[in-house]
Amino acid sequence: MLTVKINGKEVEVPAGTTILDAAKEAGVHIPVLCHDSRLNPFGACRVCLVEQVGMPKLQAACTTPVTDKMEIITESEKLSRVRKTAVELLLINHPLDCPVCDKGGECTLQDLTYEVGVTKVRFDAVPNDTPVDHTNPFIERDIDRCVLCGRCVRICDEVVNIQAISFLNRGTDTMIGTSFEQPWNCEYCGQCISVCPVGSLNNRVYLFKNRPWNLESEKTICGLCSCGCTVS
Ligand code: FES
Repeated sequence: MLTVKINGKEVEVPAGTTILDAAKEAGVHIPVLCHDSRLNPFGACRVCLVEQVGMPKLQAACTTPVTDKMEIITESEKLSRVRKTAVELLLINHPLDCPVCDKGGECTLQDLTYEVGVTKVRFDAVPNDTPVDHTNPFIERDIDRCVLCGRCVRICDEVVNIQAISFLNRGTDTMIGTSFEQPWNCEYCGQCISVCPVGSLNNRVYLFKNRPWNLESEKTICGLCSCGCTVS
């Protein structure tokens, strides 16, 4: 076991534990966007950066494993500035039309913007105007809302194991899609929709029909697609 201090609170965790999980153990919240506990760490969004005492560089909490006697600080003026900037950068290409987005009110980016206190984006927005893709019978894809967190690609690969979608292109042209622009043919399990933290992948059947807080939870026999096949 390794001993780690998070904001002065000592915890013992097994080797291989990330700073994020050690912080959870210590009851300390670190904001995340690209992280999903079911998926391999990815480190794309940089929202989870923390300070390590004695290290000049900030560390991504979701990808960095702890070492023995490591001391981590998760709240400081510097971190608050850095997190705000990370969210501002994510908002440059993201449309700010939350009232007409089906994900409004249950959007991780919206929650994060509120949490880190971004009230104004200092950078010039680079608006995109890609038409919404309605070609898939179940999945509506709005590429302009995508923040490239990679959750959809990773769940399709690591959990569903069919690799229907992937990152395409490089640099500022990077986007999520299918190889060679092939039609999005898959199992339609809906996992990519369920992990999308913004309104980029939406369930066409469910779109603008209901609000998540009006739904009731149901026991299900299926651990995969969350469509609600019930036990009884
Ligand atoms: Fe750690 Fe995105 S949550 S880099």
